[in-house]
Amino acid sequence: MCGIVCYIGSKEATPILIEGLKRLEYRGYDSAGIAVHDGKNVHLVKTKGRISDLEIKISNLQIRGNMGIGHTRWATHGEPTDINAHPHTDEDGNVFVVHNGIIENYSILKRRLEKEGIRFRTDTDTEVLAHLISYYFDGDLIEAVRRALADVEGTFGIAVIHRESPGRIILARRGSPIVIGIGNGEHFAASDVNAMIRYTANVVPLEDNELAVVTRDDFNIMTIQAAKIVNRSITTVDWKAEEAELNGFPHYMLKEIYEQPEAVNNAMRGRIDPAEAVPKLGGIEPVWDDLKRCKNFIIVGCGTSYHAGYVGRYIFERLTDLDVDVELASEFRYRKLNFPSNTFVLALSQSGETADTLAAIREARRKGAKLLGIVNVVGSSIARETDAGVYNHAGPEIGVASTKNFTSQLVVLTLLALLIGRHHNLSYTEGAEAIRELKALPGKIKEMLFQANHIQAIAEKYYRCNNWLFIGRKFNYPIALEGALKLKEVSYIHAEGYAAGEMKHGPIALINPEMPTVAIVPQDDMHEKMINNIQEIKSRKGPVIAISTLGDREVKKIADDVIEIPRTLDYLYPILTVIPCQLLAYYCAVLLGRDVDKPRNLAKSVTVE
Ligand code: AGP
Ligand code: GLU
Repeated sequence: MCGIVCYIGSKEATPILIEGLKRLEYRGYDSAGIAVHDGKNVHLVKTKGRISDLEIKISNLQIRGNMGIGHTRWATHGEPTDINAHPHTDEDGNVFVVHNGIIENYSILKRRLEKEGIRFRTDTDTEVLAHLISYYFDGDLIEAVRRALADVEGTFGIAVIHRESPGRIILARRGSPIVIGIGNGEHFAASDVNAMIRYTANVVPLEDNELAVVTRDDFNIMTIQAAKIVNRSITTVDWKAEEAELNGFPHYMLKEIYEQPEAVNNAMRGRIDPAEAVPKLGGIEPVWDDLKRCKNFIIVGCGTSYHAGYVGRYIFERLTDLDVDVELASEFRYRKLNFPSNTFVLALSQSGETADTLAAIREARRKGAKLLGIVNVVGSSIARETDAGVYNHAGPEIGVASTKNFTSQLVVLTLLALLIGRHHNLSYTEGAEAIRELKALPGKIKEMLFQANHIQAIAEKYYRCNNWLFIGRKFNYPIALEGALKLKEVSYIHAEGYAAGEMKHGPIALINPEMPTVAIVPQDDMHEKMINNIQEIKSRKGPVIAISTLGDREVKKIADDVIEIPRTLDYLYPILTVIPCQLLAYYCAVLLGRDVDKPRNLAKSVTVE
């Protein structure tokens, strides 16, 4: 969690840091701060609250300087207060550190330093780093940072400046992302490229256990342990600055819901050979020979990415003859895993930095599996640690609630399943049908977005209900889970997602006139059974909001409210049925006055376990 941003060059650092922090605010928003070096002194400003609070504080001060570091926090150790905000300093105010991650042995180190007479001011784990660097500093900042990091256990992405070392920023990472941005006579660094995309598209991500020294004109990367210089090529990202802006939408979540036709299109662009009815996924070529022969396939992810993986399991079962499983990445490594030979583990992740997902793939690698990734952020840790993979190209997703990346993940999963299936026993006819329907999806999503007002009216009718149920079967069971997750995370309404067949095993006891059920009931082979489930709820006076196929009269007769979706193939319905769920969650959150893009207690990318 948390966002780090750094600048060194000839411009004023403060506005660049503030703007970068605003773009990273979705990663954490408990408190924020900056430290700016003016060539002689370092100016430190920090505050609890949002970047806007920091801006107000800064506006009363005259902060000048061409180099600085900034931080927006998602607290792990110590409450979100002014004093616990980053940057942290040593006793003399010489060393300034921003940190993303957790220093696991901080209490041991703290005791050791306190014995030396050093006084601590904050409750954070990070402060120990500032004191340690200061303790080891004898004029050589790189050496001091290296020695300090040698003592540290845990995860970190850090940026460090020293009052007596103007003209250089030291960066280091182990487990938390740091990316260097290369400008003309200036350099940037940040937790993700969003923060600097307005200035440069040329970036170099640090690898774990690397340290970088960044000056105005140069940067050098070396290993933390041996100070061995590493050569790294520059990656160019294809995101545009405007993509990370609101462009007239009131919230990123709504903007990103509306970007789904394009995100779905981008996920397919250049990846289909219609003549052969076979997808082309260049990114998986390195492992293709093994993948073709693979029998066991396990999909892992967290939160919304896990739900996409869950739909993916049904899609793979439908289109391939693989044995497919889906697992929560956060539970995966606690299992006793026995992989048959040539097992593939596929990690799904928007950010590519989710600590639980990274831990899961590392465990899978240790146990002999081959690793694939479907990732949105180019050059992110999961993208780099997997043997092969596919990028979503969904563009930056800023809203904490994942929306467009989910539908994009479903498209990429379908392409991958189709590719494997067409090399198994899936016919040309089925391949061609899939491709035709995939290509029609962006238009169908647009049709659905025209119903936003109708969905808003439904939200107005039910947003005061404190408990909601979402039910679905087979392909749409994971959409029930996802619908419930969306609603709870942005509106704080309690919601449960259930496989509709499970209702009679317990949850039906909850049904009463105050508890709406969102029933996902497209015309697939589960339709009849879903109708029965809706009847059971209606007999107990529960209101039902149905998401059903256009023209489905049977559903219209029994449901209280109906949201219609265009017809498609059974396994593609989730790409359409999830959209009303996203909009319902969005409108309920707005009606309840919630902070839609930055819900309480959450952060966009969860880089701590
Ligand atoms: C989604 O709305 C969530 N905020 C969250 O569940 C998210 O999907 C999860 O943390 C995984 O993130 P990732 O896709 O970046 O790995
Ligand atoms: N552990 C640090 C803190 O609580 C950093 C947390 C983060 O990654 O935001 O301040």
